[in-house]
Amino acid sequence: MPLEPVSLPGEIRGLRIGLLVSGGIAAYKLADLASAMTQAGCAVRVAMSAAASRFIGAATFRGVTGNPVLVDLWAPSSEPEPHVQLGDWAQLLLLAPATANTIAKLAEGRADDIVSATVLAARGPLVLAPAMNDAMWAKPQVQENLARVRARGALVVEPEAGHLASGHTGAGRLASGQRLLDALAEAARGRYDLAGRAVVVSAGGTREPIDPVRFISNYSSGKMGYALAAAAAERGARVTLVTTASHPAHPGITEVGVETAAEMLEALRQAQPGADLLVMAAAVADYRPARVAAEKIRREQAAELALELERNVDILAELGREPGAERIFRVGFAAEGAELEAKALEKLERKRLDAIVANDVRRRDIAFGSDYNEAVVYLRGGEQVELARMTKRELADRLYDLLLPKLR
Ligand code: CTP
Repeated sequence: MPLEPVSLPGEIRGLRIGLLVSGGIAAYKLADLASAMTQAGCAVRVAMSAAASRFIGAATFRGVTGNPVLVDLWAPSSEPEPHVQLGDWAQLLLLAPATANTIAKLAEGRADDIVSATVLAARGPLVLAPAMNDAMWAKPQVQENLARVRARGALVVEPEAGHLASGHTGAGRLASGQRLLDALAEAARGRYDLAGRAVVVSAGGTREPIDPVRFISNYSSGKMGYALAAAAAERGARVTLVTTASHPAHPGITEVGVETAAEMLEALRQAQPGADLLVMAAAVADYRPARVAAEKIRREQAAELALELERNVDILAELGREPGAERIFRVGFAAEGAELEAKALEKLERKRLDAIVANDVRRRDIAFGSDYNEAVVYLRGGEQVELARMTKRELADRLYDLLLPKLR
């Protein structure tokens, strides 16, 4: 592995990777890999056993990843329950080198150090790369322990044969950096079907100012857009959420706060290059006040007040004209009343969309402000799919299930 060039598989680009290092001489090689993963766009956080820190310093990993390193379950400076935090955060775990002792702990389900405890607290798949002396590797107790760990779903990257630190030659060398990355990609493919994809979502109703304290807006809560962003992030996508609303943050989402349609257009223009999928769930105000009063409008100014409105930009239409837009799968939303189907199909054409998700806004038990939604998805080419009433989060997942095979 030393300083060999590696190429990062697309499936793991942008994923959050927990790197667990246990105490073998090969630990030093992981600094290079952590650096390569970080430079290629992964977020990497390291936890290392006490034995590992005899081979490589935490400062090295902190330096190459830019993130704090966990060295102890009980370190006074660390957050409470550091293993739970790392286990929650990581979308993939790479345990390398995995020593005979650590493999034995994993086989038994122990959690008496930061490495073994994080494996137990993890929510994502585990890739494990053993490295040890050839005689240790050959022992039945090591192989039995490894078989137990493998049977529970860990992906094991077998060590290679060659020169060992002990001076012997045999099986036990840590697998190459490229094999470790390829195994991470395989684990990602099995679990994150949007891994390697960039998804841009818009959410909420735009706010068009009248004066410094008032605006025109609509009833959109932003919940559907947040659900779409969260579902995409959990399926491994890199997500940019351009939003007027503010709901609790979700790991893996880059949130860009905006107010007006003009600001939303600008933020989406910045976010769109390189995207695979654009989901325009925002309720954009079609009109905005033609003039924004510099000072607060006061009651005594006039008995009557007429607001002159002018047309806002059509964000989807504008984004469709940007260079490279033709390779992005574009999804619009249509909030409709009567003639839902005809109106939705007309918008699909006019806005040159690949799909449109149509909601019936006359229903109060779904749509605006609700945690539930029900929709009909119309796809370019004539296919249409009804999604019966379900939570917005479930609807987001059903939508991705539907669109995933069609992405370019
Ligand atoms: N949309 C947009 N820019 C606008 C208005 C709407 O990008 N200025 C997007 C919405 O985010 C949504 C889709 O277009 O994904 C449909 O929105 P809708 O308001 O129904 O479309 P309009 O073109 O405004 O149609 P209508 O004539 O019914 O108002």
